[in-house]
Amino acid sequence: MNSYIIFHSNSNPFLKILSLSSLYIQIFFFFLIHVHLCSSSSSPKSLIFPLKTQILRSPNKLQVRHNVSLIVSLTVGIPPQNVSMVLDTGSELSWLHCNRTTRNNQPDPTIFYPNQSTSYKPIPCFSPTCTNKTQDFPIPPSCDSDNLCHATLSYADSSSSDGNLASDSFHLGSSSNISGLVFGCMDSIFSSNSDEDSKTTGLMGMNRGSLSFVSQMGFPKFSYCISGSDFSGLLLLGDSNVTWLAPLNYTPLIQISRRLPYFDRTAYTVQLEGIKVSGKLLPVPKSVLVPDHTGAGQTMVDSGTQFTFLLGPVYNALRTEYLNQTTGVLRVLEDPNFVFQGALDLCYRVPSGQTRLPNLPSVSLVFAGAEMVVSGDRVLYKVPGEMKGNDSVWCMSFGNSDLLGVEAYVIGHHHQQNMWMEFDLEKSRIGLAQVRCDLARKRFGVGQ
Ligand SMILES: *[C@@H]1O[C@H](CO)[C@@H](O)[C@H](O)[C@H]1NC(C)=O
Ligand SMILES: *[C@@H]1O[C@H](CO)[C@@H](O)[C@H](O)[C@H]1NC(C)=O
Ligand SMILES: *[C@@H]1O[C@H](CO)[C@@H](O)[C@H](O)[C@H]1NC(C)=O
Ligand SMILES: *[C@@H]1O[C@H](CO)[C@@H](O)[C@H](O)[C@H]1NC(C)=O
Ligand SMILES: *[C@@H]1O[C@H](CO)[C@@H](O)[C@H](O)[C@H]1NC(C)=O
Ligand SMILES: *[C@@H]1O[C@H](CO)[C@@H](O)[C@H](O)[C@H]1NC(C)=O
Ligand SMILES: *[C@@H]1O[C@H](CO)[C@@H](O)[C@H](O)[C@H]1NC(C)=O
Ligand SMILES: *[C@@H]1O[C@H](CO)[C@@H](O)[C@H](O)[C@H]1NC(C)=O
Ligand SMILES: *[C@@H]1O[C@H](CO)[C@@H](O)[C@H](O)[C@H]1NC(C)=O
Repeated sequence: MNSYIIFHSNSNPFLKILSLSSLYIQIFFFFLIHVHLCSSSSSPKSLIFPLKTQILRSPNKLQVRHNVSLIVSLTVGIPPQNVSMVLDTGSELSWLHCNRTTRNNQPDPTIFYPNQSTSYKPIPCFSPTCTNKTQDFPIPPSCDSDNLCHATLSYADSSSSDGNLASDSFHLGSSSNISGLVFGCMDSIFSSNSDEDSKTTGLMGMNRGSLSFVSQMGFPKFSYCISGSDFSGLLLLGDSNVTWLAPLNYTPLIQISRRLPYFDRTAYTVQLEGIKVSGKLLPVPKSVLVPDHTGAGQTMVDSGTQFTFLLGPVYNALRTEYLNQTTGVLRVLEDPNFVFQGALDLCYRVPSGQTRLPNLPSVSLVFAGAEMVVSGDRVLYKVPGEMKGNDSVWCMSFGNSDLLGVEAYVIGHHHQQNMWMEFDLEKSRIGLAQVRCDLARKRFGVGQ
């Protein structure tokens, strides 16, 4: 009884950089869109989007959110302008990079021109949207000289971006138009990294905050999968009945309604119960996996972060066991000064001519009711461009949160490959199942 609009990207790479059969693969973005309409009824409609990948950073406390991102393409405004947005389950406010001049002849798809949209409306600062719905913003909005709601996004490298809270129509596919969707129309993007920032128009905030894209759309759930083999992916917004895919295992979302200094209550928080290396459970006390009285120690599922980060005691236990189980199989990079992305410090040397890694231990994240198994070849990540003599450098794709000053466990999208990830807001739970994302696409009638 649901209506599915299915967009499909044929050669739509999902991850910019990914280790596969020990080959380093750099991906590019082409996509074809096919539209399939099935039966209709019930609102909001379910929609399927292609996801592509790109390098970008998103505004957040985590510096490691840079680089690889999941991208959704859609149109905004009347007449519609093409935009591409980073899918981020760790952010609330969706935003677009705006330019308030009149667009010249050649439209720039990385910029939204509000003056060219008749449906664009800035939000006044006395509006309840500005005063009431922004309570979970990391930086509260202010009032600008025109009495408009002024939003600021900050980045870990202390750069920031400023703009107005505004609303406009968002067009998801040809049959779904949402008017008055609130987003940040950001004028200035002060950053040390503007090359990378300029590759997409903005970000689609998908967390549980009241102004996030999912909250505003009122979708009861959304899901995505990321292929581990052919770089394609799917984003499904809305209700889905994917029982044919695989039975999902559900883990409840944890909620703490009190405000705690280190607890992000808008995040998708789950309960981590343990970590296994090749089936061997790490000896860590359960207490370090549970948020403490300050909120430190929450476990967030975050599509905006690439790798997975663990608090020091758990990271060290994983590091020790992984090192133990790879002794004699892999050669450790003996360079204490090399720490990839500031937090991944267990790295190895692999002869650059070697196209296949040896069989390596898997790492499983055990949640209440569900388990996420990261296969051996996905546990190691080849560091782009890094060489030691004739060897390339590979690092364990789990990092130490402590080295980043982050008080949380963060499950990144590198470890969500070939997983169906369902965010069920209605029932407050996350469903997981191991799937072949390329086959899932075919089952939706696309992907030939
Ligand atoms: C992230 O981007 C930086 C700058 O472009 C690059 O040096 C680094 O290798 C990238 N890291 C990954 C994991 O792609
Ligand atoms: C938006 O993108 C589509 C597909 O890439 C293209 O056909 C169309 O001309 C673009 N529209 C605008 C206004 O740039
Ligand atoms: C806005 O666009 C105009 C014309 O395309 C350009 O000259 C100007 O530099 C842009 N402004 C910003 C802040 O990017
Ligand atoms: C764009 O719109 C703003 C108000 O939203 C206005 O102040 C500005 O003058 C307009 N710019 C142009 C070039 O039309
Ligand atoms: C603002 O929020 C408070 C509680 O969060 C609520 O009591 C009040 O009615 C809201 N005001 C408006 C104008 O929505
Ligand atoms: C949605 O909006 C676009 C752009 O204004 C328009 O072309 C399309 O016909 C609209 N579709 C529906 C179903 O209203
Ligand atoms: C989902 O599919 C199963 C089997 O295909 C069916 O039994 C069930 O009623 C469906 N649920 C919904 C909500 O459509
Ligand atoms: C690995 O751990 C086992 C059991 O704790 C121990 O007996 C063995 O010596 C360790 N091996 C290495 C290479 O550290
Ligand atoms: C790297 O490989 C080349 C060719 O195989 C060889 O001549 C050179 O000595 C090697 N360098 C190191 C540092 O091993």
